[in-house]
Formats: sequence, structure tokens, C-alpha cells
Amino acid sequence: MNLTALVEPDRVHRSVYTDPAIFDLEMEHIWEKTWVYCGHESQVPKVGDYWTLQIGRQPMVMVRDHDGSVRVLYNRCPHRGVELCGNQKGNTGRAFVCSYHAWTFHLDGRVRAIPLMKGYEGTRLTTDNPDCSMKAAARVDSYRGFVFASLSAEGPSLAEFLGEAKVAFDDMCDRSPVGEVEVVPVCHRVIQHSNWKFFMENQLDALHPSVTHQSTGVPARRIENRVKAEQGSAPLFFHYLSTFASSFDQWDSVQTVNFPKGHGILKGYMGLRPTDPDTLEHEAQLKAAYGEAKTEEYLSRSIHHVLVYPYLSVQSPLQQLRCLRPMAANKTLSEIWHFRLKGAPEAIYRRSLWYYNLVNSPATMINADDLENWTKGQWGLESKGGEWVSFHRNYGGDTERDGVIYSNNGTSEAVMRSQFRAWAEYMAPALAQTVVA
Ligand code: FES
Ligand SMILES: [Fe+2]
Repeated sequence: MNLTALVEPDRVHRSVYTDPAIFDLEMEHIWEKTWVYCGHESQVPKVGDYWTLQIGRQPMVMVRDHDGSVRVLYNRCPHRGVELCGNQKGNTGRAFVCSYHAWTFHLDGRVRAIPLMKGYEGTRLTTDNPDCSMKAAARVDSYRGFVFASLSAEGPSLAEFLGEAKVAFDDMCDRSPVGEVEVVPVCHRVIQHSNWKFFMENQLDALHPSVTHQSTGVPARRIENRVKAEQGSAPLFFHYLSTFASSFDQWDSVQTVNFPKGHGILKGYMGLRPTDPDTLEHEAQLKAAYGEAKTEEYLSRSIHHVLVYPYLSVQSPLQQLRCLRPMAANKTLSEIWHFRLKGAPEAIYRRSLWYYNLVNSPATMINADDLENWTKGQWGLESKGGEWVSFHRNYGGDTERDGVIYSNNGTSEAVMRSQFRAWAEYMAPALAQTVVA
């Protein structure tokens, strides 16, 4: 089968979720070319701090250098290939030291010393040979403290790549009176036994919450109502869960905005602007920092999720970020982070923590129910029970302007259609190749 035949405007072939050869092509043509999120600058605050990650199939390390910059290097010793950082994170001191034969490297990757240099005399291995140094990612850039790297020297700039999706980071940082966030330095790491696309499609899938999350949303609403009746109001965290039980019509009235390159926004549907003393104190801080008009602009952006395709889901009003690191066609690692708004009241952070623990943590029923769907989805698509995946919902019923698709129904599968449009563009160089004979 030819790869071009796998993606149609209203349906895709199941093999794009299951075929290891297609997964390899995705790694080559998407992940190892585009800008990939590495982490937040505050993950590596001190000189020598590092965080390891995969970009596509490549083991990389993000490290804080002496000059204050953040480097992204291949986590590979130039001698015989051993990974230099074996841990997920840590501090490497003033240099990387290989555990095999003790070659050492500066924090920008340049070779620092090779022990017993005498044995190399007369060979072409000299310390000024670039092959003796760790290789750096072709490009590294950051936006408001969020660090990205691209393994390709060519292609759009980070700003061009992010496009409209950069609002994810603006919306998060603008809620801080000093315009900055810092990461809470512990993340949940979950291996999903499903293709990465299940996660990306699900984030803006407004059709599923009242079905999948009914068992959480309905009891939460019942208790929220009881607390309100007894005490006049209920803490915001009841609302986090009770909105999952919104009616189908309510979900259908929420819009998705789908940008080129597969990015997208699910507009806001939760009431996240209560009038309790903590919120009012926070708003007063923002007004003092930015003035009335800017504060209003910052707090009234209609956002629930922003997707940076193909790997990031940012819930900026609640300072949450989830990042995918695909491992195989049927296996995806996700990092689940949350952030503090610098300078904001502690109570605002506690709200973010509540959301993190109640909705995004792998220990919650919300996340567990989604994970179960995706695993069962993967199993179903690996079966011979059918060849196609349907994205027909409201097909032809969306509004497109300047390449941006606005859904007229919140439950439109415009989201998936837009993501596969981007997928096909990324994969264009591979589209002519025959994948399955
Ligand atoms: S493999 Fe790293 S020093 Fe030999
Ligand atoms: Fe869900």
C-alpha cells in the first residue's frame, strides 16, 4: 500500500497508528526535524544541572552552561558511544565525565580532556578534531522560558513553528505579576500503551468527556451541589470534576480552533474566575503590574487547552503541561508537569496542584479512564476488525478562514482532520515511498 492512500480528508487507515515502519518515518520526518519541547529553563537552574530526554529516537541532554545559557546536546560519548548521563536528571558538576574511559567534556559539549593522550599520538584523533566533542542539537531556542530544540539546521524558526500556539505560553506567563513561571520540579511520567496520536486527538475531543468521565463527573456534581446547599459555595476543585458531566449540548457549544501545522485551541468552558479573596488578591497584583486593561485582556482569553502539534498539551489557565515522547507505534511516554506563577499568592498555586492531582495525575479516574480508552483503541486498530478510522463528524460543517479551521460544533472531528492535514504535510517527503508491499 502506498502511504499517500492512508490519509483521506475524512478518514485514515488504521496502519498510521500501528505500523512500525510508519512510526520510523514519523520519527525521521516529523520529530527529528521539527522543534521539540525539551523542558523549562527552571528545570536546570544551576550550572551543570541536566535533564535527559528523547527527541525522536535520539537521546539528548538539556544542560545549564557556565554562561547561563541552556544547551541541548546528544547524550553520547564521541569515543565509543556510551551515554554520558545515565540518570533522568541531576548535576554533572563542571563537566561531563564518561563512565567508561573518563573522557571529559565542557558543558557546551567541547572535549575538555582525554586521559592517556599518549596512546593517540600519530593518529587523526586530536582534541581539535570536532569528532572528539559531543554533538549539539542543530538549533536551540526558547520562548518565555520554555526550551525547544530542532535536530535540523533548516526549517521554520521557533516563532514561525509555534505560530498562534505561542498563546499557550503567553497565557501562562501573563498570569504571573512578574511575567514568569517556574516548573514544579517533579513530574509524573506515564507510559501509554497506545500510539501518540490517541493522546493528541483526545485533548480536543469534546465528544468523549461526558461519556468516558461520567463516573467521575456525575458524583462530583452531586457532592458539589450538596456542599453549595449547605455552605453557600463549594471549593473550585469540585468544579474541576463536575464539568466533565456537562450536557452534550454544552460540549457542542464550545469551539475548537485548528491552526496550520496541527496546533489547536479548545476554548474555555470552565468558570475559572471566581471572586474569592485569593483570586481578588491575585487580580489586584496583576492590575498593579500591568494596569486594568491588560489584566482584563490576560484573564479573559478563552482557552481550556492549547495543543502544540505533535506532542504538547498546555492548559495555561491552570498552569499544566503534558509532553509526549513516542517510544514505538504502540507505546508513548508522557511527562505531566505543572508550574508556579512567580510572585502570585500561594493559594493560586494550590489550585494548580489540585487540578494536577485530580485530573492529570495517573492516579485519577479521569486520566485512568482516558488511558483505558487509548489502550483499547490501540488493540482495536491492531485487529482485522476493520481498516479505517472515521473522522466524519461534522465533516463539511466547519468554517475555514486563512487556513484556520473553526469548528461550528464543539464535538466536530475538525481537530483530527486538521492534525492529519499537518501530518500529511510533514510526511510529504515520505509519501511517495511504498511502506507496505
Ligand atoms: S566511551 Fe566514553 S570515554 Fe570511552
Ligand atoms: Fe478525557
